[in-house]
Amino acid sequence: MPVETINWVNGKIKFIDQTKLPDKLKFVYCDDVDRLWKAIKRLEIRGAPAIGIAGALGAALGVRNSKAKNFRSFFKELKAITKILASSRPTAVNLFWALERMEDVAKANRSKPVSRIKELILEDAIKVITEDKKSCRAMARYGANLIKKGDTVLTHCNAGGLATADYGTALGVLFEAKKQGKRIKVFADETRPLLQGARLTAWELMHEGIDTTLICDNMAASLMAKGRIDKIFVGADRIASNGDAANKIGTYSLAVLAKHHGVPFYVVAPISTFDFKLKTGRDIPIEERDGDEVRTVLGKAIAPKKVKVYNPAFDVTPNGLITAIITERGIFNKPYRISLKTLKVKKLKTCL
Ligand code: MRU
Repeated sequence: MPVETINWVNGKIKFIDQTKLPDKLKFVYCDDVDRLWKAIKRLEIRGAPAIGIAGALGAALGVRNSKAKNFRSFFKELKAITKILASSRPTAVNLFWALERMEDVAKANRSKPVSRIKELILEDAIKVITEDKKSCRAMARYGANLIKKGDTVLTHCNAGGLATADYGTALGVLFEAKKQGKRIKVFADETRPLLQGARLTAWELMHEGIDTTLICDNMAASLMAKGRIDKIFVGADRIASNGDAANKIGTYSLAVLAKHHGVPFYVVAPISTFDFKLKTGRDIPIEERDGDEVRTVLGKAIAPKKVKVYNPAFDVTPNGLITAIITERGIFNKPYRISLKTLKVKKLKTCL
């Protein structure tokens, strides 16, 4: 069983401070929206689905003590809170999806007393967690069908339990394959600059007893050239209508390498990661982070203090490089603009 990354416990948001892993498993109990904003910004809570859950719970937390006497002033307060949370990180669409969902709950119940609307928002935020758990398991089952006994898989960043409420997306597939007795081996990219692969993915895979080998990001090409990678599985932070997928910086280069070496490249993501408002990945906002993340490793300087830095946190893999997209509703193939249409309908329905 994965460790519990984020949950609602005794009126507080309980989460793992992922910046402390793998040295310390530290849980934080948060009852303050500004503290939650900081936790998302600093990557204490990270990974698209987990950020979405934090947003939903954060909205519930923020309005909990509202003294508003009518819907209008209550909704104004809710909007102010969702605005703060929305400013934490721009790329993972799960955050905006969850915040909008909480606003929709309020709007749909505007005729009810404010005290009841607060309860309904919290209930729905907790539902986001249970839905995420179910999605993780469904994606894992679909994805595990693509894995053969003895496969060696490469993954990037962390798309595991730490990025979700349960099993993870890409790593969930690997956990399920292991459970089915497929005896896989996994290479994990360290994922500079913040080392989610080394600190988090290696930790999670080893915790589940999977044969794990850590590599620096620049070693993936040579492994593929030697024929040592059978498949690549990664997560996503936002997928456009045409299947272009944003994920941790370095994912795009892996996809190009995979194409060159004939290695299947799979993206695993729940419906909440799709942004059907965007036609292509060109419109996905890419977060740029502080240059010190590149000038340092785990807080230690490795470059001249004033050297210029370019630090985008994500890149976009064009749909043509993606072999298939695995969701909780099944496996989607090219052309994605057509195949993903059914998913769009499902997403609209769950939002109603
Ligand atoms: O900056 P991070 O650590 O939040 O980036 C996370 C990723 O890129 C993950 O691969 C993505 O969110 C998928 S998580 C299931």
